[in-house]
Amino acid sequence: MSAQFTRTPHPAPVPADRRAAILADPGFGRHFTDHMVTIRWTADGGWQDPALVPYGPLTLDPATMVLHYGQEIFEGLKAYRQPDGSIASFRPTANAARFRASAARMAMAELPDDLFLASLTELVTADREWVPPAGGEESLYLRPYMLATEVGLGVRPSAEYLYLLIASPAGPYFADGVKPMDVWLSTEYTRAALGGTGTAKAGGNYAASLLPQAQGAEHGCAQVAYLDAEERRWVDEMGSNNLFFVYGSGDDAEVVTPSLSGSILAGITRDSLLVLAKELGCQVTERRISAEEWLTGCADGSITEVFGCGTAAVITPIGRIKHVDGEVTVADGSRGRSPCGCGSCSPTSSGASPPTRTPGCGRSSRPEGRLPETPGTPRSGPPLT
Ligand SMILES: Cc1ncc(COP(=O)(O)O)c(C=O)c1O
Repeated sequence: MSAQFTRTPHPAPVPADRRAAILADPGFGRHFTDHMVTIRWTADGGWQDPALVPYGPLTLDPATMVLHYGQEIFEGLKAYRQPDGSIASFRPTANAARFRASAARMAMAELPDDLFLASLTELVTADREWVPPAGGEESLYLRPYMLATEVGLGVRPSAEYLYLLIASPAGPYFADGVKPMDVWLSTEYTRAALGGTGTAKAGGNYAASLLPQAQGAEHGCAQVAYLDAEERRWVDEMGSNNLFFVYGSGDDAEVVTPSLSGSILAGITRDSLLVLAKELGCQVTERRISAEEWLTGCADGSITEVFGCGTAAVITPIGRIKHVDGEVTVADGSRGRSPCGCGSCSPTSSGASPPTRTPGCGRSSRPEGRLPETPGTPRSGPPLT
């Protein structure tokens, strides 16, 4: 089907002065732009009715399938204003592919990549005034998602889906500068098992993480690190971040991240960092790493840095790991040292400017380290008609 969106402008968009006040302190996920995109899918008609409509509530029959069996997937990516005023999103084709993979795992209809990308362009163009100015950490967070909308209580894949795209201005994750976080290493709960849904960005995975997350918060931890479900030995990832470990420093630094075992979400930031770290001359290893190796390595100093990475915070240094039997500090508990030494584009958490946002010191020639990537939007998009 062609990506010809019908456009219904918001009859009462947020006034410019109110929008400016929101953009001055957007926080995360608190405010939403004037419009959203919807696209329907039915078993008989396929993808249909792409539309840009005013942001607003959904009306769902109480027996709508998603409310009962949780057939829901989502993505998360950011659009940044560029110095020339244009707007670009970061590696959206990777999000499109992951969205399709999540759909396949959850027995849902797969949205073609070109429609996914067209939906981003449609919404960002319509709500371009919501994209914060260039030069800072601020962005427009884009949340594509899809739910099962067939009405009925039979346990089977829905015959109807609704794809939606909403957008929310996002401020810097660390308003007062990057701070290391404490992480709770859960030995009681796991996030995903081999053969399960850990590789899909499915809402249910996050519902299951809320109890361990609350447990971690009771210990002052911002994230939970999970072990594999079978042996409770191998480090998988955190609730919304992939994990990286740095051994040594300087020219001898080795960057290690758990291999994609089949229960880990394949993070796009993770993938970018692997490429950049190699380009920066670090030894990069994807392998299994045990909780014991992690804790021992921090205690004996062989691990010099640990960090989480993901779209929301990009890179977050980890200062301490807490668990039922105690805690261990990573190096001196502060930000790590940059193995490449340039201090601005390090693949490690000491980089003041995350490489995924900054072309860096110029050593990266690969798109994984660069903005923009298509689809970019013009400085001023076509008017809503
Ligand atoms: C479970 C999980 N792991 C890792 C990530 C990082 O993925 P990305 O870098 O694509 O945002 C996320 C965030 O999307 C996540 O929810």
